[in-house]
Amino acid sequence: MVGNWEKRIAITGGAGFVGSNLLLYMVPRYSRYLFVNIDCLTYAGNLSNLASIEHAPNYRFVKLTVNDYKSLARCFAEFDINAVIHFAAETHVDRSIFGPADFISTNIAGTFNLLELARQRFDDGVDFRFHHISTDEVFGSLGEDGAFTEESPYRPNSPYSASKAGSDHLVRAYHRTYRLDTVISHCCNNFGPYQFPEKLVPLVINNALEGKPIPIYGNGRNIRDWLYIEDHCRALDVIFHRGVAGRAYAVSARNEYRNIDLVRRICRLVDEIKGGGPRERLIEFVSDRPGHDQRYAIDPSRIENELGWKAVHQFPEALRKTAEWYISHREWLDRCVSGEYLKYYEQVYTNR
Ligand code: DAU
Repeated sequence: MVGNWEKRIAITGGAGFVGSNLLLYMVPRYSRYLFVNIDCLTYAGNLSNLASIEHAPNYRFVKLTVNDYKSLARCFAEFDINAVIHFAAETHVDRSIFGPADFISTNIAGTFNLLELARQRFDDGVDFRFHHISTDEVFGSLGEDGAFTEESPYRPNSPYSASKAGSDHLVRAYHRTYRLDTVISHCCNNFGPYQFPEKLVPLVINNALEGKPIPIYGNGRNIRDWLYIEDHCRALDVIFHRGVAGRAYAVSARNEYRNIDLVRRICRLVDEIKGGGPRERLIEFVSDRPGHDQRYAIDPSRIENELGWKAVHQFPEALRKTAEWYISHREWLDRCVSGEYLKYYEQVYTNR
């Protein structure tokens, strides 16, 4: 028996970047919910992110991969799970280019396992909600104008985005076919604390601090739409609680930047905070990412108009706060970039 919790939510991938930020945001706010963090702790999972909540009465951790259907079933039964917020995924585009297999099994087959368990519980009469965390990358690449909405056609270009598109389609199908209560969120690029430094923002901060080359793929004119992680967590909270079943919500703060401009900005921030520099001279243009999407931009009108969410963080302050966080958490960065990751990074970087 698991106690008298109002909701019993499986957070898959809760030790990763967005998942751990969501747990840090939600666990103290919802003391009547039980949060069960299901994570298999790949290179990108880090339980130390969750130190401040690890002893909270409404938090549990279960080390488990979403590929292990039988153990997942036991876990769902043990905690009488009645909601899923599904983050667990391989997320890095470059890794998906070097080795797509894990993306297919975790992102597609793993999502299928969770949907099957949700469907069984729903069929047994449990009032179940399934919130699937997707990405704007499923919509492909934009030209100079326009922005993706929830109605944009799917045109994934990388093995990563194709695997996320596949999982989105399964979620949609489970709603249409079995009437499972699902919601999907498509977020743009995030930045903030606890992001693994293979992603652009923490990678640039780390290399700027270490005096290492800062690789820019291609000509640096690719555009991404950037959202501070805390705004994303607020959006997820709103979608999970108030999103309409079967509906998708696209999330962004309309912050588009060219990679080169963002990278220069981060270099200047590190110069200001740490002194020295200019660290811009560490920038090196390297060969492009195969199939590199030119531009992402999200029109968040639906979540703004229908659910009343709006980003509250201003980009310049949020970026500064992020740079300060990594600078004052060098040991966190060092732990990430040691060992296996370093080998991977050197291999990728040398191949460019
Ligand atoms: O848009 C949401 C997506 O954002 C998420 O679904 C993905 O999981 C997440 O990885 C991210 O994908 P991106 O490929 O946009 O993020 P990344 O940080 O890898 O790269 C951002 C941009 O910077 C992209 O245009 C590639 C470029 N880049 C990246 C790295 C790591 C560089 O120029 N140099 C680099 O070293």
